[in-house]
Amino acid sequence: MRVSVIGCGYLGAVHASSMALLGHDVVGIDTDAAKVELLAAGEAPFFEPGLPEALREGVASGRLRFSPNIADAAGAQLHFLCVGTPQQRGSYAADLTYVDAAVTGLLPHLADGDVLVGKSTVPVGTAARIAEQVAARAPGAVVAWNPEFLREGHAVNDTIHPDRFVYGLPAEPAAADHARAALDEVYATPLAEGIPKVVADYATAELVKVAANSFLATKISFINAMAELCEATGADVVALADAIGYDDRIGRKFLGAGLGFGGGCLPKDIRAFMARAGELGVDQALSFLREVDAINMRRRVRMVDLAREVCGGSVAGRTVAVLGAAFKPSSDDVRDSPALNVAAQLQLQGAHVRVTDPAAIANAERAWPTLAFAATPEEAAAGADVVLLATEWAQYRQLDPVTFGDVVAARRMIDGRNVLDPAAWRAAGWTYRAAGRP
Ligand code: UDX
Repeated sequence: MRVSVIGCGYLGAVHASSMALLGHDVVGIDTDAAKVELLAAGEAPFFEPGLPEALREGVASGRLRFSPNIADAAGAQLHFLCVGTPQQRGSYAADLTYVDAAVTGLLPHLADGDVLVGKSTVPVGTAARIAEQVAARAPGAVVAWNPEFLREGHAVNDTIHPDRFVYGLPAEPAAADHARAALDEVYATPLAEGIPKVVADYATAELVKVAANSFLATKISFINAMAELCEATGADVVALADAIGYDDRIGRKFLGAGLGFGGGCLPKDIRAFMARAGELGVDQALSFLREVDAINMRRRVRMVDLAREVCGGSVAGRTVAVLGAAFKPSSDDVRDSPALNVAAQLQLQGAHVRVTDPAAIANAERAWPTLAFAATPEEAAAGADVVLLATEWAQYRQLDPVTFGDVVAARRMIDGRNVLDPAAWRAAGWTYRAAGRP
């Protein structure tokens, strides 16, 4: 099929490449000319395993093009809307500027039978509003909402082999049938694998996305709340998570206690969801998300407290190494990164902070130019009074406590992700501390 992808950020660049991998003829549109140039040369503008290969293959096959001009979307049968919906400045609500600009730009190029497929995470009600605009300006086109659930670090695979497809379709039966058939055709290969499909209305499809992210955030904050209880009682949150995780109604995934969640999705999505619930007059229904957010932010403070504690009450003048800058491993994304937030708090308290990361240093330096950075854990930790593991990259999990102990000034490790073996580190003479563990 001929498809356009409007917005080539994380979601769009991956979606465009993945659609080309599925054999479609794809044009990716982005207003950022520099990004378009990179993508057109088959280069990924951010770190995402598998994306460079998918991009290069698509570009080389001639099935994947990029353009800064929205007019080049004309002629596509499906137009995937993949622009960002960041948190508004000074508010919890989502900023829909990019969504509105993309729709306005696309409207003159929509032909009869085209399907505008929303993938961006939007406040419930947005699809219906866009459908009204489309009905007024391009009455032969149809709007569908098809949220995306990809995880950074697994983005290409999550796009091609998702857990499920969700189609939010218009109420009018002929339009719904047309949109459903177009989506079935574009996703024919993964659908043939038996991936489940949920067909619903616009509002349900929009809500599925924020409900899923709210549930995941709640699960993480739940275990982090248990970590607070464990700290007060001397219990071990990792053993607790293992034990409750064996109940398959609960499950062990997303019960990783530690520094909590960050990134470009979970934090802003739960806030935008609360803001939208307020507008709808049902803010009480989501007041628990305020608590989820608060528990999550307390984890960052707790890490800083632990660093202070092991340094004898103050980090002023101490050298602190922070392992990790990305909000999670296998990503160079530093948006709302707990690691950098902790690093900055420690610096504000007078510590000499050195941050390292295998992929995210360039982005971290741009976002936090006042922090110091090092290329390797050994360089970051040289002469350090305390080391904080803030992002659980495989190379940090595999550090050898004996040889790594030779580079630091004092063997103090704070494991912010509960991924090191406390016994091994203690045996090598380290003071090992982790949130929620004795
Ligand atoms: C998330 C959703 O998983 C995805 O479905 C949605 O499309 C976008 O948002 P992503 O932001 O890539 O994806 O990250 P995810 O893997 O969900 O992790 C989010 C954060 O939670 C990270 O900071 C991670 O470190 C943290 N986390 C995750 C925990 O603190 N504990 C856990 O057990 C799991």
